[in-house]
Amino acid sequence: MDYKTKNAKKLTGNIVIPPDKSISHRTAMFASLTKGVVNIKNFSKGADCHSTLKILQQLGCEVKFHTDMDLTINAKNALKAPNSDLDCGNSGTTMRMMSGILAGQPFNSTLFGDASLSKRPMKRIISPLTEMGAKFSHNNYKAPLKITGGKLHAITYNSPLASAQVKSAVLLAGMFADGITTVNEPYQSRNHTELMLKYLEADIVENSLTSTSIRPCILTPKDMEVCGDISSAAFFMVAAAIVQNSEIIIENVGVNHTRSGIIDVFKRMGANIELLNERNISGEPVADIKVSYSDLKGTTIEGADIPRLIDEIPVIAVLATQAEGTTVIKDASDLRNKESDRISTIVSQLKAIGADIEERPDGMIINGKTSLTGGIEIDTHHDHRTAMSFYVAGLITQQPLLIKEFEWVNTSFPEFQELMSKITKD
Ligand code: S3P
Repeated sequence: MDYKTKNAKKLTGNIVIPPDKSISHRTAMFASLTKGVVNIKNFSKGADCHSTLKILQQLGCEVKFHTDMDLTINAKNALKAPNSDLDCGNSGTTMRMMSGILAGQPFNSTLFGDASLSKRPMKRIISPLTEMGAKFSHNNYKAPLKITGGKLHAITYNSPLASAQVKSAVLLAGMFADGITTVNEPYQSRNHTELMLKYLEADIVENSLTSTSIRPCILTPKDMEVCGDISSAAFFMVAAAIVQNSEIIIENVGVNHTRSGIIDVFKRMGANIELLNERNISGEPVADIKVSYSDLKGTTIEGADIPRLIDEIPVIAVLATQAEGTTVIKDASDLRNKESDRISTIVSQLKAIGADIEERPDGMIINGKTSLTGGIEIDTHHDHRTAMSFYVAGLITQQPLLIKEFEWVNTSFPEFQELMSKITKD
């Protein structure tokens, strides 16, 4: 399905942001490692998280939905050998984190994915998990991954990347190892795994912001609720900041410090942003975020900022085209390994609609403020965040954009268009 963008006169009103993708994956996976029944409230409707659920069912878990977002998982004591290969769809989080779990199981399994996921690098998890004693066969370090699981050795892994998927895969494997497994990272990546494992009474210790250790343990079944996804909220935040006369409140957004880099960037760029009603949901900090149309200035985004906003960079690039001065994004070369090469797909297509933007190996440089022309077709490259970023750009382009295969938004955010329509006045 193609989508032709429309300009907005303004965005006003309140929306409740749908559940966090990263946290939803973790609730289901960790529930599967308990020996009990876990109720999960507000689980993501996105295709990625449903790939995780399907895999857990193939591994013997009972998954019962009470509404389309509330479910119960009963792992029935232990995961069981699957009868067929496990389909991760488009979801890197499913493939990398499930590899950590499957590495420690006394059976063999095979994970595969769609065309985009089959091109993404898996050496980052294959190397440490192999060091722990798991055996992988793979296609030049890409999916499909055939995993021979079993007893694992504890390791100390100095990860070259600040990646929560890598950290989580090694820590999960560490639950099935013979001692203390430690992961050290160059910068702190998102810490949902650590928070949730602690809540489920795992034997886990955060030695520092960039070092975590775990011992073999069994998780305690406890009910969990998923807060709203700041990575989804980002599209609404940027839309309200760049469309004149806008003022919106985005409710129930997870604002965990390891994910809230975009809020700091908004503040540095001079955006009108306020956090209201700050509270806690299942150990995760949550707030309502008020954003209004803003006079913006450029900023530099680098180093420790990057893991705190890695998924938001495509839409931050759109924001930066509307800021006076220069925005520099660097140290973000891993963006080339996401659902698409996001540096290349975002820069080339923003340039094609009149942005003053330059591609760098590890990021981009954007000079603003520019008027965006439009009038072209956008190739999403099967990437949900590219589709949504250009929807937001299309709110202010001189001519509409035709976004091809817009249905890729369903990967993370099937409610996107409905929520946008709710607050857009055209
Ligand atoms: C995720 C971690 C990040 C992020 C991805 C989700 C997670 O990936 O980009 O969308 O849930 O752990 P990396 O770990 O590769 O940085």
